[in-house]
This record gives sequence, C-alpha cells and structure tokens, in this order.
Amino acid sequence: MTRKIEVIEVGTRDGFQSVNCSTIPTDLKLHIIDELVGAGIKHLEYTSFVSPKAIPQLADAAEVTNYVLERYPELDVFALVPNMRGASSAYELGLKKVVYVVSLSKSHNKANINRTHEESLNGYKEIKKAYSDMNIILDLATAFGCPFEGKYQDPRQVVSFLKDYIDAGLKTCCLCDTIGIADPMQIKSLVRALNQSYPGLELMVHFHDTRGLGMVNTLTAIDMGIDRVQSALGGLGGCPFAPGASGNLSTEDLVWMLNEMGYDTGISFSRLLQTAKAQEIQIKGQYSGHQIHIKSGVAKQTEC
Ligand code: COA
Ligand code: ZN
Repeated sequence: MTRKIEVIEVGTRDGFQSVNCSTIPTDLKLHIIDELVGAGIKHLEYTSFVSPKAIPQLADAAEVTNYVLERYPELDVFALVPNMRGASSAYELGLKKVVYVVSLSKSHNKANINRTHEESLNGYKEIKKAYSDMNIILDLATAFGCPFEGKYQDPRQVVSFLKDYIDAGLKTCCLCDTIGIADPMQIKSLVRALNQSYPGLELMVHFHDTRGLGMVNTLTAIDMGIDRVQSALGGLGGCPFAPGASGNLSTEDLVWMLNEMGYDTGISFSRLLQTAKAQEIQIKGQYSGHQIHIKSGVAKQTEC
C-alpha cells in the first residue's frame, strides 16, 4: 500500500507572521485557506493566539478560527498558543487542538515568549490541567540549534529536556529547526534517540530552508519513519525572534517531490502551485521570504 504522508501547512501562521506589514486582510487569509483546502490540504496550523503587539499580522485569530471551524469541521486544524491566555481564547472558540511552543534554547525561549524553561513547563501543565480534553502538541523550537547558542549536537539534550513534558502527559512533539541549521545525520541520531527513549511519542518535523536543506532534512525524517511533516506555501516564514532565520520549506516543492516519489499526500501539485503564485502576487513586496522557485518547465509539465 502507498505510504501516506501528512503535509501540515503552516503558511498562514508561520508564513504570515513574517510578512513585513502589520496587517494582512482577513479575507485574503480565508481565501488562501479555501484554496489550500481545495488543493487537498487536510492539516493546517492556521494562526496563533498571541499578543497582537508581538505579532500584529495574526491579530484576527478569532475571526479566522470561527471561519475555519464552521467551514471545515472535518479538517485537522490547530493554532499556536504561547500561554494560558492563548489556550483559553482558542478553547472558548471551540478549538480543541493547539500547539504550545517552547524553545530548547533558553535564550531563544526568552526572546520568543519571554519565559524561562521552568515557566514554560509550568504553563504547559497549567493548560493541560485546565483543558483536559484539549490535544496539545509541543513545538520544540530551536531543537537542532539556536541563533544565540549555536548547534546542538548531542541528542541527549533533547531527550532530557522532554522528560518533564512526557511525565506531564505529552503525546506529540514537533521538532522545529527554527533557523535551518539541522543536517541529516543530526536528524537521524535525534530521531533514533527519541524513539529509543520514548517509543510512544509521536514526532512531527518542521524544517527551514536557510541553508537549502529543508527538503533533504524532511526526506531524512520521512526515511526515519516520520509521517507528519510541516511546510509553508511559497516558502514564507521564519521566526521574527530569531535573527537571520529565513523561510520555511515550501509546500509546493515538498508536495511535488513526495508525489513524484509515489507517496500519498492527497494534494494536487498544480492547484497548490496556482495558489502559491496567487499568494505571491497578492502580498508581493511585503515579505522577505523566497520567491516561488519551481522551474516553469517542471510546473508546466505537471500541470498539463
Ligand atoms: N493573546 C493575546 N494577548 C496576549 C496574550 C495572548 N495569548 N498573552 C499576553 N497577551 C497580552 C497581554 O494582555 C499584555 O497586553 P497589554 O500590554 O495590552 O497589557 C501583553 O500581551 C503582554 O503580556 P505579558 O503576559 O506581560 O506577556 P509578555 O510581554 O511576557 O509577552 C507573549 C509574552 C508570549 C504573550 C508575547 O511575547 C507573544 O505573544 N509573543 C509571540 C510569540 C510568537 O508567536 N513567536 C513566533 C512563533 S514561535
Ligand atoms: Zn517555521
């Protein structure tokens, strides 16, 4: 049987938070979500419930959530929350799946969400206690390296960091390469170590393309047995609190490769590419992410 890969689109969250303008029209976001779903995307991390002062681009999280929950009740949708306030806002709107973010790097955790590791762990426990029916994924930011502290070579650092979260009931962790510093050998040793220490822990991955390794790193994770991979339409994104971070792996590139390799993504490459091009036109000049870089020959070939 063909192996299924869940491609999780994070563009309207991770991509749009880096768009260089304070607001993106909500209608445009909803239109892009519609187009993504039309192309076959079934898994969406579509916004964040964060301070509008920190990320003004996502200040319409409630509106977008209402739309998504009403229009696509069957889809796997979730939003990022940095704290109890964000989790409460999501829960009150009926969203029962969120991503709670913490950085392996102490300094990045402070820069990103203004918390110590201890405060972050307590925050996670608090949310779990308050909303026991909420599915909380842990986004482990800077899992492979940090803009302030450099690269983490020893997988035991991640294993020991996650222990408290596992003890508190963690079921799913997304390993995020916030600054695109990971390499395939590092991924293999980390995934192996985590599988060995926490066989029940489900892993997802989120790679950035800073050094052009987003694709090879994602494929390495897939080869290691990980079925859930994240990417952003048009390769938008990067962390606004990680100096030098560049775009995410682009969804259209990833889907093209996976479909060509015979994996079952359930996503139409040509529709996705159309949406990526339309998005680029709509917000051109307002973001610093990479340009759509699929060669037109390849696109034409697949479109016809
Ligand atoms: N949603 C909306 N507003 C929030 C909020 C949330 N989840 N959490 C805090 N706020 C508001 C507070 O009400 C306060 O508003 P005020 O200044 O009008 O009184 C302000 O944000 C600061 O709150 P405080 O609790 O002191 O938090 P902080 O200054 O330590 O900031 C964060 C912490 C996490 C709320 C903020 O840094 C943030 O939202 N960062 C975004 C992180 C992010 O998304 N990074 C990229 C993705 S990994
Ligand atoms: Zn990202």
